[in-house]
Amino acid sequence: LLTGIPLLGAGALALGGCAPDDAGAATDVENILTISLNQTETHPSYLALTAFGEKLAEATEGRWGARVYANEALGAQQEVVQLVSDGSVDMAVISAPQVENLSMAFRPLNLPGAFVDIEHQTAVLKDDSIVGELFSSLEYERRLRVLGGFTQGSRHVYTDRGPIEGPDDLAGLKIRVQESDVFMALTRALGASPTPMAYGEVYTALQAGVLNGAENNEVSYVTQRHYEIAPHFTLTNHLVGLDYVMANVDRIEEMDEADQAAFTESFAAAQEEFVTLWAQETESSIQAMEEAGVEITEPDPEAFTPAIEEVGRSFLDSPEDEDLYERVRALADEMGVER
Ligand code: GCU
Repeated sequence: LLTGIPLLGAGALALGGCAPDDAGAATDVENILTISLNQTETHPSYLALTAFGEKLAEATEGRWGARVYANEALGAQQEVVQLVSDGSVDMAVISAPQVENLSMAFRPLNLPGAFVDIEHQTAVLKDDSIVGELFSSLEYERRLRVLGGFTQGSRHVYTDRGPIEGPDDLAGLKIRVQESDVFMALTRALGASPTPMAYGEVYTALQAGVLNGAENNEVSYVTQRHYEIAPHFTLTNHLVGLDYVMANVDRIEEMDEADQAAFTESFAAAQEEFVTLWAQETESSIQAMEEAGVEITEPDPEAFTPAIEEVGRSFLDSPEDEDLYERVRALADEMGVER
């Protein structure tokens, strides 16, 4: 899988000069952090992480930089999270449902209704009293540190036929989901047959008719070109998704204290930048969908919402999970945001 890919700093330096267009960023720095991403080079995550690498290089006077490998070049998220854990890849964007597979403690944040909207989600990510312990809980055994997160916005269902007005219209349709129990249950609740699959395989599977559709946000729908094959987009709004940005702890600790501080600051700046990029890209994706003639259906909220909420409740089966979920929801109440 990883043959020919520079996994650690020294190799990356040598390769830097000759591979300018398959990866984002810094070629003239001493130590290059490899970052795995499953998105295209136009996706906000790619742009924000590329900018992160540039800021890091500047702030550490060339001692550290980063290179973003797009399009699952280093593997799909489920494998890559292991590669970050064992240190063969330094950092990665990992969708929250994949992290649920490493530690159930993360699951309450994956439930529908946990995050009311992007603003609420952003506030949760910044609230150390809610996520502080959770985000460092994988450090000891897995050597993984959660640096923070990028929003996935609201997720919706799209299909090769339509319009989809309610669960009956999804009966028997094979909908791709991320590999997670919550997403399997959620898709069943929407009325469809869930098919777990890696993100990068979805386009071909749609094309082959193995899938009738998938669920995602507008940005992924457009950047992955899924609209070409599944041009019926239904605003199910089943949850506000989250990507974690994770790093190998030992690799970070190779930096001296000042460089670690620069790393933290550069990442915080990238996270801020991402919020703006995300809003812009969502808007232009909706425009692109309209221009491409995608049929956008806004179903009666009562058609899907009760079943979606029931899935949320059914997964809250321990006092710890309930406690985390309640703390997240309490922040929403404090902020005055409502669904
Ligand atoms: C979004 C998310 C990815 C995730 C993907 C998926 O695009 O940003 O991290 O992998 O959904 O559905 O798998």
